[in-house]
Amino acid sequence: MAPINIGIMGVGTVGKGTIEVLTKNQLEIQKKLGKALNIFMVACKNIENAKEVCPADTIITDDAFDIVQHPEIDIVVELIGGSTIARDLVLQAIENGKHVVTANKKLLAEYGNEIFAAAEANQVTVKFEAAVAGGIPIIKVLREGLAANNIQWIAGIINGTSNFILTQMKDKGEDFELALEQAQQLGYAEADPTFDVEGHDAGHKITIMAALAFGIPIDFSHCYLEGISHLQSKDIAYANELGYQVKLLGITKKTDEGIELRVHPTLIPEDRLIASVNGVMNAVYVNSDMLGKSLYYGAGAGSLPTASAVTADLIDLSRELINQVKYPVPHLSYLSSEVREQPFVSINEIRSSYYLRMAVRDQLGVLSELTKIFVKHDVSIEVMIQKSDFKEGIAEIIILTHSTIENNIKNVIAQMESLDAIVGSVTMIRMESFYK
Ligand code: HSE
Repeated sequence: MAPINIGIMGVGTVGKGTIEVLTKNQLEIQKKLGKALNIFMVACKNIENAKEVCPADTIITDDAFDIVQHPEIDIVVELIGGSTIARDLVLQAIENGKHVVTANKKLLAEYGNEIFAAAEANQVTVKFEAAVAGGIPIIKVLREGLAANNIQWIAGIINGTSNFILTQMKDKGEDFELALEQAQQLGYAEADPTFDVEGHDAGHKITIMAALAFGIPIDFSHCYLEGISHLQSKDIAYANELGYQVKLLGITKKTDEGIELRVHPTLIPEDRLIASVNGVMNAVYVNSDMLGKSLYYGAGAGSLPTASAVTADLIDLSRELINQVKYPVPHLSYLSSEVREQPFVSINEIRSSYYLRMAVRDQLGVLSELTKIFVKHDVSIEVMIQKSDFKEGIAEIIILTHSTIENNIKNVIAQMESLDAIVGSVTMIRMESFYK
């Protein structure tokens, strides 16, 4: 039986992993598929590098356009990254009638609607399991496993680099900069870590999940991004003392007011399972009307875990080719004719609880002044503690609030910062309980 011919563009960490998975597990895959997956052609800037990892009969090129144009290739795998050349290659592959597998979250967050429309016009499929949470099959969960449900919210630890840094800050009391250096030394963070630590990577992933969950187009422009670089290890320690862990979460919710889509550091009660996800691991927590809450945990990055997801897509697509089935699963979970824009809720209108930390001078009535500000803006205090004494004339106050609209808390902060008794600015971190 003729094999399915695959062209792989990019032989970096995930490309190498995919070649390894396809080679090492070829017999298992063949037993599940009834056909072989053949690494027909590989594109890599450095041909010698590619030769080291490819089977002897693989054609190697330094021009990825050779792959998208080759008539004998059935499926193109895009592992180049970025959203410039990768976009051109994917669109050309689609135009040439090729199915595509990609791990590229940036490409899909920015151009997913265009790419899926082109795929449907050309009657091909684009698969992207590896683009969200690496090896965790969360795309399959959202589109297939939970197809019977209305999804209400998703909250994910979906950036391993940030989670590693936060874990170091918690376990070792290290500042952000030192924890980042460790992450870089261990190869978990890039030389320019902005993309990971400022929330862009998590934003791309939660934007894709929001589209699948709620039947909306992919719209990264509405994703609120706040990273972890401004966090202090003492806030993590105070949160821990109060029974919370601090995690960078990607959150999307369907509310009566519209869709919330946001990435920010978040206090989570430590008795929630997701609060114990540490190091580079990822987890995605989903609340849906029939199943209720479910949690998906695993490696969100790395060569073989990500390649596991890429290869699963190759197997799925090959089954479609072998059985001559088109679109058993719509790209965005909902039929493209049913995908509709919905209003987004701005960050100032979201509902959340809040952790606040401020330094106050030892002045008569300062606490009473603070509490009056909360009353004025209709914000109820859950916990208020003084974390240090007035030895140097200044003490730190920590406040946890009940749920309120973000605008209210921002008004509280602005008014507090205008008081003489408050030194410097007020630190604010959002809190999610996940009880509902
Ligand atoms: N850099 C990402 C992370 C993995 O740290 O989780 C790829 O999205």
